[in-house]
Amino acid sequence: MSARGHAFGIDIGGSGVKGAAVDLTTGDLIHERIKIATPHPATPLAVAAAVAELVAEAEWAGPVGITLPAVVLGGIAQTAANIDKSWIGTDARTLFSDALGGREVTVLNDADAAGLAEDRYGAAKDFAGLVLLLTFGTGIGSALLVHGTLVPNTELGHLEIGGTESEHRAAASVKDRDGLSYEQWAVAVSTVLIGMENLFWPTVFVAGGGISRDADQWIPLLTNRTPVIPAHLRNTAGIVGAAMAIDAGITP
Ligand code: BGC
Repeated sequence: MSARGHAFGIDIGGSGVKGAAVDLTTGDLIHERIKIATPHPATPLAVAAAVAELVAEAEWAGPVGITLPAVVLGGIAQTAANIDKSWIGTDARTLFSDALGGREVTVLNDADAAGLAEDRYGAAKDFAGLVLLLTFGTGIGSALLVHGTLVPNTELGHLEIGGTESEHRAAASVKDRDGLSYEQWAVAVSTVLIGMENLFWPTVFVAGGGISRDADQWIPLLTNRTPVIPAHLRNTAGIVGAAMAIDAGITP
């Protein structure tokens, strides 16, 4: 973290590589988010070049936190459910560090980053106990936090509930693919939330991902028992959580 309490976060998604410097006192971005289109195919080298371009454009010289939509252990991507399969086994931390002139880098799961940010600055900041954030997008990402401490790489989107993987039942992409109404999709989401709350007993669910912008159209339709609140930070949560991770030395 710089003397001014700033750190830099980058969120790597299917359509964009987005980054900014973050004020860690408030969780606000210091400047407008910089977005570079995710290269296709999104191979590790191509994405690393986009990251280097973004950091150069921001004129940021310090350490950087970076998210990936994958399980990340010791800087190494272990899975690639909705990204280029060549990420599996890639030492992402070394790759990004090399692309950024050898500087310090931490790499963590995208939903884990969003969870850190929502827990400290956003939707869950006033909730004590166990917070379970789910991001509804192409897949379902998860972040599990207890009293502010992250249990990394939970991957609950792949939890089988009623014989079906949660993200195959209730990702936002399933709603689009099958042309489901919010009423129909809410039945699928409720099934997933009931399955998860019966195993984890969270205090609150935080619903993230782009579809959380329309939360008033579907959260009231849910039939599970645990309160569900929409994410607050929306499209900055990954950036803010990545900045928190590099600042706090979180290296899952
Ligand atoms: C991946 C997770 C990721 C989530 C959201 C899932 O398919 O397995 O690692 O967090 O999608 O991008």
